[in-house]
Amino acid sequence: MEYEEQIRRINAIVTSPMKRFKPEELRGIVERYEKNHAKSKQAFERAKKIIPGGVEHNLAFNYPFPLESKKVWDCYMQTVDDVVLTDYLMCGGPIILGHNYKPLTEKITELIQEIGSCHGITHEYEYKAAELLQKHFPSCEKIRWLQSGTEADMLAIRVARVFTGRNHVIKIGGSYHGWSDQLVYDMHIPGTKRMESHGIPKPIFQYIDSAPPNDIEALRKMFKEKRRVAAVIIEPMGGESGAIPVKPGFNKEVEELCRENDALLISDEVVAAFRLHMGGGQAYFDYTPDISVFGKIVGHGYPSAAAIGGREDVMSTVAAGVGGGTKRAYCGGTLAANPLTCAAAYWAIKFVEKTNATEIAGRAATRLSNGLNEVFAQYDLPWFSYNYNATVHFQTSCVFGLDITNPSQAPQIKERKEFMEHMGAALVDQEIISVAGSRFYTCIKHTDEIIDETIKKIDNICQKVE
Ligand SMILES: Cc1ncc(COP(=O)(O)O)c(C=O)c1O
Repeated sequence: MEYEEQIRRINAIVTSPMKRFKPEELRGIVERYEKNHAKSKQAFERAKKIIPGGVEHNLAFNYPFPLESKKVWDCYMQTVDDVVLTDYLMCGGPIILGHNYKPLTEKITELIQEIGSCHGITHEYEYKAAELLQKHFPSCEKIRWLQSGTEADMLAIRVARVFTGRNHVIKIGGSYHGWSDQLVYDMHIPGTKRMESHGIPKPIFQYIDSAPPNDIEALRKMFKEKRRVAAVIIEPMGGESGAIPVKPGFNKEVEELCRENDALLISDEVVAAFRLHMGGGQAYFDYTPDISVFGKIVGHGYPSAAAIGGREDVMSTVAAGVGGGTKRAYCGGTLAANPLTCAAAYWAIKFVEKTNATEIAGRAATRLSNGLNEVFAQYDLPWFSYNYNATVHFQTSCVFGLDITNPSQAPQIKERKEFMEHMGAALVDQEIISVAGSRFYTCIKHTDEIIDETIKKIDNICQKVE
C-alpha cells in the first residue's frame, strides 16, 4: 500500500467514531478467555505477589490477564493451559527461523556443553560474528557487542556526542529506542514528549528533542535553531517499527540534512536488521548511517544480544576500562560479547542466509497483509493492513495515528488503546498471538496454509464487530 494511501486511511480512522466489538461478542471473548486460560490466571495471581503488576514483558497480553507460555516451537506457542496459539509475536521480532530452530539449538547446546557459555575474555565467536554482521552492513566498519537494544541506543548517542563534541540529539516523534533515561521521550504517540518519563529529572531532557514524523522541513528548522546537533536517530520503517509509516525518501533526506550540518545519522536496526532486509533499513531504503544499532534479532532471541557498528573514526571513540584522559565514550557490560550470544549471532546469520529466511518470511507477511485487506473490505471496515517485508501492521483503532495536539483526538488515547487490547483478546480467542493486537511478525514456518487459516480466523473476528 502506497504511503499516501496509508496516511489517508489513518486519518480516516482517527477522525471517525471507533469501530467496536458488539457488546455480547466482547463478553463472549472475555468469558472464553477466562475459561480457556484458567491456569494462566492462577499463574498471574501468583506472579502478582512477587512481580510488580504481575507481568514484566512490554509485549505481553494483559487483557483480561496475561498468558503464561509453556513451550514454543516453529510458529507456535503452547500456553500452560495447553492451548496452542499460532505465534506472530515471535518474541517481539527476533525469531525469523521459527522458535527453537533445531540446527541453531544444536549449535548452541553443543557450545555450552563443550566450551562453556561465559568466559569473561575474548573468544573467537566475538570477531567471527562481527565479521558476518559487517558483511551485510558494510557501513559498520567497526562493531562493538552489547547486551540489549536499550544499551546499544544509549551508547550510540554517547558516541555521537563524543565524536562531534556536540550535545543535541533529535529523535523522531513516536519512535522507540529502548527505555534509557534520555530516550524515554516522545515515544509511541508523536507529541507525547515527557508524558511517560516519570522518575526522570527534567534536566535530563535538555539535549533531547523530537521532530514530527516524516516532516523534513520541521527537522531542517530544528537544525537551524539548535545548530549544535550531534545526531539524529531514526527507526527505518517509521515509529514503532512502522506503525507510524515512514514516507518514502524521508530517511535519505534525514541523511542529507545530517551531512549538511556535520551531524551523525544513527539507524536503529533493532527490528529491521534481517527482518526487513538482510542489510536492514539502510539497504532497504538506501541510505548510509554513521552508526547502526542492533538488538535482539542479531542473536535470534538468545539473551544479551546487541551491538553498535559504524564508521571507523566514529567507532574509535568507544572505550572501556580505566581511561587515560583521552576523549572516549565509555561502555561496559560483563556479559557483552559472551561466546553463547556471539555464537548465536554467528549461526543465526548463517542460517538466515542459508534458508533465505528474510525473503520467505516476507512473502508470508505479504500474503497475510493482502488477505487481511480483502477481509476488511468485505466487511466494509475502515481497517487496513500493510507490511514492511516480514513485519505486518494492521490498523484498527490506530492509537499511534492520533494527533495529541488536536483537542478532539487527544482524549481518545485510552479507548483506542483499550480496543487494541480487545483485539488482542479476540485474536487469542481464535488461537492467535499477535504483537499488541496490531502487528504480526512472520517467520519461515508460517506456511501458506497457516497464513490462510489466520486470514479465515480474522474473518471470524470481523463478524463480531458492530
Ligand atoms: C527499534 C527498537 N530499538 C530499541 C529497542 C530496545 O531493545 P531492547 O528491548 O533489547 O532493550 C527496541 C525494542 O523493541 C526497538 O524496537
